[in-house]
Amino acid sequence: MLPWGYKSVMSAQMFEGKDHAAIYQKHRFPPPQELLNIIFSYLEEKKGKPYDLVVDVGCGSGQSTQVLVPYFARVLGTDISEAQIQQAKQTPSPSQVSYCVCPAEALPVEDGSVDLLTAFTAAHWFDIPPFMRELERVLKPGGCVSLSSYTPKMRIHYGHCSEELTEIFREIQAVLNKYAHEKLHVLLSEYQEIFDLMPFPDKKRIIFQGSEISFTVAGLMGFLQSFSMFQTFKNAQPEAAEALLQQTQSRFLETMKVSSLETPLAITLEYICVLACKTPKEKVTS
Ligand SMILES: C[S@@+](CC[C@H](N)C(=O)[O-])C[C@H]1O[C@@H](n2cnc3c(N)ncnc32)[C@H](O)[C@@H]1O
Repeated sequence: MLPWGYKSVMSAQMFEGKDHAAIYQKHRFPPPQELLNIIFSYLEEKKGKPYDLVVDVGCGSGQSTQVLVPYFARVLGTDISEAQIQQAKQTPSPSQVSYCVCPAEALPVEDGSVDLLTAFTAAHWFDIPPFMRELERVLKPGGCVSLSSYTPKMRIHYGHCSEELTEIFREIQAVLNKYAHEKLHVLLSEYQEIFDLMPFPDKKRIIFQGSEISFTVAGLMGFLQSFSMFQTFKNAQPEAAEALLQQTQSRFLETMKVSSLETPLAITLEYICVLACKTPKEKVTS
């Protein structure tokens, strides 16, 4: 049951399945250090220490929440999906970490109590206008928000066949796009709408290329299965989804001229990050 009578919206149900949550836990990776560096230099510049409470909204199975632990006295991960929060709770965490099932638009924290609110690959799923009102309510004056994601612009790297592999991955993405939820247009527009609706005047939107992330062929196939559009496809046509996965795997191995699914390769992703700072009261009135 969700608290505060808030109804689980269709978009949130994309991540409800227990199997999907388990795939998520296994195949998604934490936010890269370069993104964390951008977020923390912004927080340091705008607010500065002490850093008491961070809320990681849409935390999924908790990979994004865990990276925040070294910086804050209290770390709260929230998600609308019970299955995801159950997965997150199974990972051993230090005592300052807690998790809670709740919608992004009604967070269980006091007014003006949050130093930093983060959402990694999650904000495009939220109901943006009420979420923005919630942001205004929960942030401390001078508190900051970071809404970030990687985009579908992904490149694969392996020897001399990087271009071919990237092209194969794009073809699969094009097939899966038919199963994309309408909310993914926010991601495709690189968070322009989120930036425009951010209620604080002190805001910026950054787009950058991340450095290489190590994968194996098997890991990449797992990552593909963690996409919400793959899960939608699988629910609608399980056999076709399995066939697509097998074909993709074979095409990768043939192109790379290898037979082992454990063959290492790398991917690079494009990231977007909308950062903003809630204006302290004295600055509003001066
Ligand atoms: C793509 S996952 C990202 C998980 C995690 N932050 C990460 O980086 O791996 C998006 C998460 O947002 C959650 N979500 C979607 N709509 C939500 C809402 N309205 N309120 C809270 N969580 C929501 C989903 O349940 C899902 O776990």
